[in-house]
Amino acid sequence: MKDGYGRELDYLRISLTDKCNLRCGYCMPPAGVPLLSHREILTLEEVFRLSRIFVSLGIKKIRLTGGEPLIRKNLVWLIRMLSGLPGLETIALTTNGSLLCGRVGELKEAGLSRINISIDSLREEVFQRLTGKDLLCDVLQGIREAEEEGLYVKLNCVPIRGINEGELIDIARLSKHGRTDVRFIELMPIGCASKYEGIPSEEIKRRLEEAYGRAEPLTGYEKAGPAEYYRYPGLAGRIGLISPMSHPFCKDCGRLRLTAEGYLKLCLEKEEGIDLRSPVRGGASDGELREMIMEAVKKKPLGHSFGSGALDTDKRRMVQIGG
Ligand code: 5AD
Ligand code: SF4
Repeated sequence: MKDGYGRELDYLRISLTDKCNLRCGYCMPPAGVPLLSHREILTLEEVFRLSRIFVSLGIKKIRLTGGEPLIRKNLVWLIRMLSGLPGLETIALTTNGSLLCGRVGELKEAGLSRINISIDSLREEVFQRLTGKDLLCDVLQGIREAEEEGLYVKLNCVPIRGINEGELIDIARLSKHGRTDVRFIELMPIGCASKYEGIPSEEIKRRLEEAYGRAEPLTGYEKAGPAEYYRYPGLAGRIGLISPMSHPFCKDCGRLRLTAEGYLKLCLEKEEGIDLRSPVRGGASDGELREMIMEAVKKKPLGHSFGSGALDTDKRRMVQIGG
């Protein structure tokens, strides 16, 4: 399935809930967001039906996100159902890691192969200030379990001026040879993120070079994703830099997003998309849904315009989109 600019769309991110047990300041307002009601959220059966249709249209990778996807009951059922879909090569999960302890085995057994875990600070008081919860130990334990189970782990850190800027060097050290990559993501000014200042990837690269030696680009590795990967002489694992602000990767974007309420979102930043929940609940056939999706994706915007002051930015918060 291609969009109007000829980009092949093969990656679907599905937000399973707008709820999260953390309150990361750049993602959610302190009081939370008005939550969707139970009825507004797609059932996992509906999610599975739509996934099957998307996979039949050429989606090869599905990432389950939130809010916090581990809050959703029967997540394991969904993963098991997805793993039976021919053509779907990768099932991944993005989680804050705080609810992961004791769950990794069943997730992996159901068919999960990759997991992205957020880790923005290794200092208990900073973690608590940033996320609103004292759960750093649980997250670190979750990371260990994911590594021990042999999942392919990516640790995501959003560097923020004056908050975790002093510990990026320590966070980089969580990378492990062959298994665990650490990725630094430039903060995008979505919703509440605008009140923080992100740190450009170039600066991260330079700071890590001061600590770990000259960065060697890994050109052949993970070409499909938005990260640029490097190896440092003083570090065991790979470091990824994701630079939506300084080097937008929109021209290669093959992503679609399905929100928890069943809205097919065509670009992280923009409102454009279609509601799929109404036709799903209104009795549309698989064929009709396929047509609607193929028609909608033709309108995928060329790219985001963060920083340009454009006014058509989606009103959804990051917690409602799932990254
Ligand atoms: N800019 C960049 N990354 C963000 N994330 C959440 N909000 C933002 C933002 N405004 C990250 C989370 C998580 C991933 C899903 O997206 O830290 O790692
Ligand atoms: Fe929850 Fe992730 Fe948002 Fe933090 S960034 S509040 S963990 S959804």
